[in-house]
Amino acid sequence: MDHFHYAGHALYCEGVPIAELAATYGTPLFVYSKKTLLHHLHQLQRAFAAVEPLICYSIKTNPNLAICRLMRENGTGFDVTSGGELFRALQAGGAPERIVFAGVGKTDREMVEALDANILMFNVESEGELAALSELTAGRHQSVRIALRVNPDVDPKTHAKTTTGKRGTKFGLDWERVEKIAAALVKHRHVELVGIHMHLGSPIYSTEPYRAALERAVPLIETLRRQGHDLRYLNMGGGFGIHYRKQEALSADTFAGVIVPAVQEARCRLILEPGRFIVGNAGILVSRVLYVKDSGGKRFVIQDAAMNDLIRPTLYDAFHRIWPVEPPAEVPAPPEDYETPLPHTQLVDIVGPVCESGDFLARDRWFPEVKRGDLVAIFSAGAYGMAMSSNYNGRCRVAEVLVDGDKHRLIRRRETYQDLIRPELEV
Ligand SMILES: Cc1ncc(COP(=O)(O)O)c(C=O)c1O
Repeated sequence: MDHFHYAGHALYCEGVPIAELAATYGTPLFVYSKKTLLHHLHQLQRAFAAVEPLICYSIKTNPNLAICRLMRENGTGFDVTSGGELFRALQAGGAPERIVFAGVGKTDREMVEALDANILMFNVESEGELAALSELTAGRHQSVRIALRVNPDVDPKTHAKTTTGKRGTKFGLDWERVEKIAAALVKHRHVELVGIHMHLGSPIYSTEPYRAALERAVPLIETLRRQGHDLRYLNMGGGFGIHYRKQEALSADTFAGVIVPAVQEARCRLILEPGRFIVGNAGILVSRVLYVKDSGGKRFVIQDAAMNDLIRPTLYDAFHRIWPVEPPAEVPAPPEDYETPLPHTQLVDIVGPVCESGDFLARDRWFPEVKRGDLVAIFSAGAYGMAMSSNYNGRCRVAEVLVDGDKHRLIRRRETYQDLIRPELEV
């Protein structure tokens, strides 16, 4: 469920017409719904309440400080994957004892920053990282809590570029090496092994990968306890899928139905690192049509949002629902799958101004007739949209707005040309 809806042939976010936001802040524009953000967070909090999870919002998904603060105010910790994200988590008022740090390539500087902050734990992904962290910690006469990120070798059945829990990806430790690595940590003077971490991939549309991974993790936790470790955290990462096409996502309750009993059996505190599930359907990208061009037997709707604003379609072959903000009166409501041809629609590619053939937001889509100046909404763009945006082709990164009922406020201003050159040094 989200709080973007059509009323009288106009798209609204909560109580605010999208056209009003575009007129106020310009396009392209990311628009987020506070109600939707909180609705999804609360769904997770309710579904997993029986095990009192520590929900660590995954900053990489959408790092805007206003969104991070909203998460923190509503009870989350943070999952960070770099020193920059740790900085953000702390800027957002994140409590260090609710921050976990993942990533295969933590630098010494990043590890020192996290040690300085005294975060809850590092999710360690290799023996090399463990050795470096142990050395840094010993030098500081400090101790550190870690979880071993294990690779359970399960197929999350998602895009190859977002598959992480399968053997052969760079993530986590091979299962068969974990016991040996853990054994060497018993009675370690500086490193305390407190948990197991697994992030399987994203987005996931079945409980099966979680079930399969937990089936391996629960006995592993017992084995590590027998070694003498006080194993008390089981971190299942993120990955819960959302509605990109229609109502295809599983509910938080369905995932909890598989995860909660295993966590109870393992007698651990559950950590979750959700990102997409919270913010994905809570944001849209609004663009304005520049030109409609017929070329090579195809029709192209060229609008002002591009692959540098939302890279998911070209990077992951991702599908985003797209529809005019104010569709013509004769056009029926969009079909449930946004793909079935309807009266008054035509087959188009929806593309941006970037000089790449890969710059598209949709290909071969049945779409109402639009003209120069019309507004377009690209749905489910809240996760890995702004977070993965760039200045490619000298494009200023876009503005972000947060809607709360009938109020709205800018949470990131549009970049200027000066912003584009500011970090560069004259020789
Ligand atoms: C370690 C880790 N945790 C959490 C997440 C968030 O995943 P999602 O946005 O699917 O919830 C990711 C995303 O790739 C991740 O790499």
